[in-house]
Amino acid sequence: MGDIMEQTRWYKDSVFYHIWPRSFCDGDGDGVGDLHGVYGKLDYIRSLGCDGIWFSPLYPSPGVDCGYDVADYMDIDPLFGGMAAFRRVLDAAHERGMKVIMDLVVNHTSDAHPWFQKSRRRIPPYTDYYIWRKPLAGGKLPNNWDSQFEGKAWQWDAMRREYYLHLFAVRQPDLNMDNPLVRQEVKRILQFWLELGVDGFREDVITFLSKRDGLPNDYLMPAIRGIGHYNDGPRIHEYLREFREVLDKYDTFTVGEAPLLSPRRALDYVDERRGQLSAVIQTQVMNADCLLTEYVPVPFSLRRLKRSFDAWQKGLDGKGWNVLYLENHDHPRVLSRYGSEAYHTASGKAIAACYLFQKGTPFLYQGQEIGMTNWRPRRAEDYEDVQTRWHYRNMLARVLPPSVRLKWCHRASRDSARTPMQWSGAPNAGFTTGTPWFRVNENYRRINVAAQDADPDSILNFYRAAIALRRRFATLMREGSYTDHDPLSDGLYVYSRALNGERLLVVCSFTDKALRFCAPKGFVLARGELLLHSYDDALDGNGFVTKPYECRVYHFR
Ligand code: GLC
Repeated sequence: MGDIMEQTRWYKDSVFYHIWPRSFCDGDGDGVGDLHGVYGKLDYIRSLGCDGIWFSPLYPSPGVDCGYDVADYMDIDPLFGGMAAFRRVLDAAHERGMKVIMDLVVNHTSDAHPWFQKSRRRIPPYTDYYIWRKPLAGGKLPNNWDSQFEGKAWQWDAMRREYYLHLFAVRQPDLNMDNPLVRQEVKRILQFWLELGVDGFREDVITFLSKRDGLPNDYLMPAIRGIGHYNDGPRIHEYLREFREVLDKYDTFTVGEAPLLSPRRALDYVDERRGQLSAVIQTQVMNADCLLTEYVPVPFSLRRLKRSFDAWQKGLDGKGWNVLYLENHDHPRVLSRYGSEAYHTASGKAIAACYLFQKGTPFLYQGQEIGMTNWRPRRAEDYEDVQTRWHYRNMLARVLPPSVRLKWCHRASRDSARTPMQWSGAPNAGFTTGTPWFRVNENYRRINVAAQDADPDSILNFYRAAIALRRRFATLMREGSYTDHDPLSDGLYVYSRALNGERLLVVCSFTDKALRFCAPKGFVLARGELLLHSYDDALDGNGFVTKPYECRVYHFR
């Protein structure tokens, strides 16, 4: 039985490509990315070696949080081409041997969702679908929690004459998951998409679903005050077990977004004997240059990054499965953060090599494979993201003048990574024939898919080679052990994977300085085969002096 389960865990051999639909490719010329555009790019995604796609939300939505405010869970927004276009993409993906997972956003809905509209009118059975509270004495808010996007976590509703909880934007009311009817709705949503043929879900802030009884006050830092009472909450595992009633009838991949979770707590979700989620998206890996959020920056520390890699590789080893990623739609571009725009090609490759060979299911975010960089806005009004706007106008406004705030947001904003995909040097980067919904990064003439496709030494072709390499060796996939050989180095990341006498050694420099790399004990570089490298193959004794952001992958048998 165990073996059968292991075999069906197909996602362990997959590489996923994350599409943020609005900015991926516009197929109908209205300036917004859509499923017609995706359809035309499936072969491109396959050409990377990816065999899975995660779609950020495609559902009808007012777009307050770019689709993470869902108004109808069982349809596809006409903006993206509607249901017919989705089925076409799903079939075409499956024909190419690619899986498709949807974003399941059930911590909250849009305020435009009919459930909310009925709930605020107290129409049964929707009355308790959301978290409504009366004001405390003197009209005070029900507790001191903050929303992660817009001030306090409570909004007064004049119609119902009560406050509702919103952990994110004001127009994203939190669902009351303690209500069995709401959980029933979630199961219906799961069933609907699985019946349609999708292969699983990325589950948005899934660890936030269960709030502590009585919603007590919290004393953590602003912007996340309350999180101690709703992250990894009291009944979350009960709920996830209940959702498995539906999921277990299908062969699915379920990836839960799990902010701030430690590997030890993550095991409660991903331990394969419990089987609640296939894997989690941890956030520690995005904190090598900031404290909890990109809005509190600190200098990049490779050691911190390696500590997080190591903790998750070791923490889940043999018990649960990792998702490997360094970019998604919630974080500024990793090349601009952990790499170097000045050493664009080399650092783009080092970033690929530093995570693609670890144990887990790698995810690539659109544009990462060509090393897209942070977009630089001219004016605050250029920002679309609800979180950025709020930070710009409020949090940062308290302490910083406008020009500094703009720089700060350039470094921290999610919009820095949400600009249209740079397909070519044609107008609008080949993203649309119309007027793009959002600014195109001005560097598209230099950084684009067409140019890199034609260049054997590009970041794009490095990703292709690296993914192909990953698939070639069982040692890099499910089985091989993981060792970080130099956790204390500030400039080099040196790790290996090993299985039955076969070993792969990965060396990545995260600096432009020349560093002396000496092979770890037991490795003789001259006897290894250099499978992938970003400069030349020169050796200097049993090591080499690194060039800026150099990376190499050696194979030993
Ligand atoms: C998750 C999503 C993010 C969204 C938030 C609220 O963190 O990844 O984009 O804004 O949840 O749904």
